[in-house]
Formats: sequence, C-alpha cells, structure tokens
Amino acid sequence: MTGKKRILSGMRPTGPLHLGNLHGALNNWINMQEHYDCFFFIADWHALTSDYEDTGNIAEYVRNMLIDWLSAGLLPDKSTLFIQSRIKEHAELFLVLSMITPVPWLERNPTYKDQIVQLSNKDLSTFGFLGYPVLQAADIIMYKAYGVPVGVDQVPHVEITREIARRFNYFYGEVFPEPESILTQTPKILGIDRRKMSKSYNNAIFLSDSPDEISAKVAKMLTDPQRARKSDPGDPDVCNVYEFHKLYSDSQNVERINRECRTAEIGCVECKEIMARHLINALEPMREKRAYYETRPNLVDEIIEDGCEKARKVARQTMAEVKAAIKI
Ligand code: TRP
Ligand code: SF4
Repeated sequence: MTGKKRILSGMRPTGPLHLGNLHGALNNWINMQEHYDCFFFIADWHALTSDYEDTGNIAEYVRNMLIDWLSAGLLPDKSTLFIQSRIKEHAELFLVLSMITPVPWLERNPTYKDQIVQLSNKDLSTFGFLGYPVLQAADIIMYKAYGVPVGVDQVPHVEITREIARRFNYFYGEVFPEPESILTQTPKILGIDRRKMSKSYNNAIFLSDSPDEISAKVAKMLTDPQRARKSDPGDPDVCNVYEFHKLYSDSQNVERINRECRTAEIGCVECKEIMARHLINALEPMREKRAYYETRPNLVDEIIEDGCEKARKVARQTMAEVKAAIKI
C-alpha cells in the first residue's frame, strides 16, 4: 500500500444497486483500486438521517450492497471495505466535530435545503439531518483521505469537510489534511422511462435482476419519442436504448443500428432484443459472483469483519491523535 494515495468514498444503503450506480460510481471505484489505497464503506448511520422512521430494511440493504460491490468487482484484498456503524470512532469524531461546526455552515448547505423540499413527505427537521455533513466529514477525515470520488451532488459536502478540517487544525494543531473531491462523470444512461435512473422512480435495471427481468424492462424502455411506427425513421442520438448499445454491444452492432434506425430498416423491438441480449451477457459474470457469495454467507461475514478491522485500526490511531490534540 505504501506510496499510494488514499481515497475514500461511501454509499448509503438505500436499496439494490442499479446500472446508474454502476456507471456513475462503482465502475470508477473498481478502476481506482489499482492506483489508490482505497477505503469504501456503507454509510448506514447516514441512512438513518432520512429514514429514521422505518429502519427495518437497512441491515438487509447493507448486506446486499456489499454483495453488489463484490459481484461488480470490488476486491477485499485490494480495498478496505467496511460498514460505518461498526466503527464507533465515526460517532466519536462526529461528536467532536459537531462542537466546532457553526450551524450556519449546515443551514446554507445546498443539499440540505434541496432535500427538505424534495423529500417533503418526511420530517427532516432533525438535528441528525442537519448534521449530515458533519458525520460525512468525520467519515472522510478519519482516514486522512487525500481524495473523495463523488458525484457533483456531493461536492458541497466535501467542501464543508474541508472547512471543518481547517477549523479543527486551526484550534488544535495540524491533524487533518483537507480532502479533495474527485469528480465522477455522471452517466448518460437513463431509466427505462428516460428519467434519471433511480430506485424511487421505479425505472431502474438492477445489477441483481435476472435475465428475464432485464428482458422485460428493456422491452418497456422508451425510445426516440418521434418514432411512432416501425416505418418512421428514428434518431439514435436521442434514444436511450442506443446509449445502452454503445455501452454493451460490439462496435459492429452499434454502427449497424445507427444506420438502420435512421433508415427505418430496423424496428425498436428487434433493436431492444439485441441490446437486452448483450446486456444480459455483460452482467452474467456479476450474476455468477453474486450466486457464489450468496451461497457462502460465512465468507461474506469474514470479508466484512476483516474490512472493519482494517478500518478500525486506522480510526483508533486517528482518534488517539484527536484526543492528544484536544487534550481530552
Ligand atoms: N453522502 C454520500 C451520498 O449520499 C454518502 C457518504 C457518506 C459519503 N459519507 C461519505 C460519500 C464520505 C463520500 C465520503 O452519496
Ligand atoms: Fe432507439 Fe433502436 Fe428504436 Fe432506433 S431502433 S429508436 S436506436 S430503439
């Protein structure tokens, strides 16, 4: 691990991972494993901030998320994979940081204001929800990560993390480096209804979907909205199915579809069947690995234990430095 810069990122366990998550974050993490000392964790305490009324699914989501990660190609030998709530030091550092974080920093956090409006069905007027970025700051600086791979929506949180780290260092001495956001490109692929792919929109193709489920979802995908009949020429550039082809089909197919869609030689039904076949094939190794882990629950437990132990070691060391710095 020596010489490699450390990065850290996390996901909230809100449900099974879909292709949007794969292309938006997970593939990026998988690639980073070669070049960085990677810490990836499941932010189950963060899941409580908005879902505190209904916590019944969180434990199951945590486990399934880890299996999603392993199936997609995160490697426990290369990366430290762990679960936030198993490392009590996160709560301890969160408490210390909460003492020095000015409330106005949190109140003007754009994600905070946004979520309160978006999730109006939930009561988010809690201390914990306001403090979301403080917990996230604790997650990040605990491991002295140099970089945090995140989507653009999380950049304000990394920015607050930098400010909190700076303030800590100013009061108590230089303990924490200021982490940088490493921006992840957001994927072009959309849900089957052409909106952003999201579990809550019911438009997602999950990594854990069976071949039949994938076929059924692809068959329902919206295509070029101008193309009503097979005899109408289509425009692949505005068609989400074509975006999937670009990711999953071979270049010969992609070229052919581009041509034959525009001349109405190929119909959407056939085009989708070809795409579904390629997509199903591409996800086959993931389904195999999932089956492997699902039949070996003890192995999964061991991977979780090992990852948490590795993370805990670093966290203990950091907290020793924090206690020395604040003299408590
Ligand atoms: N807030 C992040 C999200 O919703 C999850 C998260 C929690 C996180 N702690 C983190 C991401 C630390 C990066 C680093 O996506
Ligand atoms: Fe989209 Fe394919 Fe139909 Fe063209 S033929 S509109 S690319 S689904």
